[in-house]
Amino acid sequence: MSPGAGLASSSGLTLGFIVSPGTGFVVCFGLTLALLGVVVVTGLKARRALHLTCVVLTVAALGATIYYAYGLGKIYDLAAAGWITPVHLSLARANTVALLVPVVTGIRTMFVPATRALHRRMAFLVIGLTVLTAITGAWMLWLAPKFPA
Ligand code: HEM
Repeated sequence: MSPGAGLASSSGLTLGFIVSPGTGFVVCFGLTLALLGVVVVTGLKARRALHLTCVVLTVAALGATIYYAYGLGKIYDLAAAGWITPVHLSLARANTVALLVPVVTGIRTMFVPATRALHRRMAFLVIGLTVLTAITGAWMLWLAPKFPA
């Protein structure tokens, strides 16, 4: 179920998701970025168990971020924001798929340690893309008007 499609209770409260799409998105996206930071630090320090745990948590937080982002799309008229919307949506899709690259190179590094430098380059590339995606996403929301309630 998407966050914009909560179940209406008899008291008028909306059930089905814990917080509003706006709050959920900001919290989950912030958590994703913080976890990505921990992934990088634990990777550089070769704290392998913690590194892998944080990768799993990052993917879960990203999943929650995407869930709330779809909810935000029901509140804001994203099409009205203009050219930034298709640019951001393309970047967001590419970024989600690109996250698989350090996952693949990371698994390879466990078996072929010589590919560690490649893994690091791919990781930093994806993080750069994530920052670009965040900037264009914030820009898009800033330009998008809210749908009338
Ligand atoms: C299933 C996913 C992943 C696996 C199996 C994995 C595995 C590894 C391994 C084996 C190392 C070498 C350190 C060590 O020996 O413990 C490493 C380092 C590192 N990882 Fe990952 N990783 C994964 C995902 C990621 C992701 C998603 C990022 C960031 C976007 C990342 C960033 C880094 C960085 C920056 C290093 C340090 C590289 C260096 O110092 O040369 N990893 N990772």
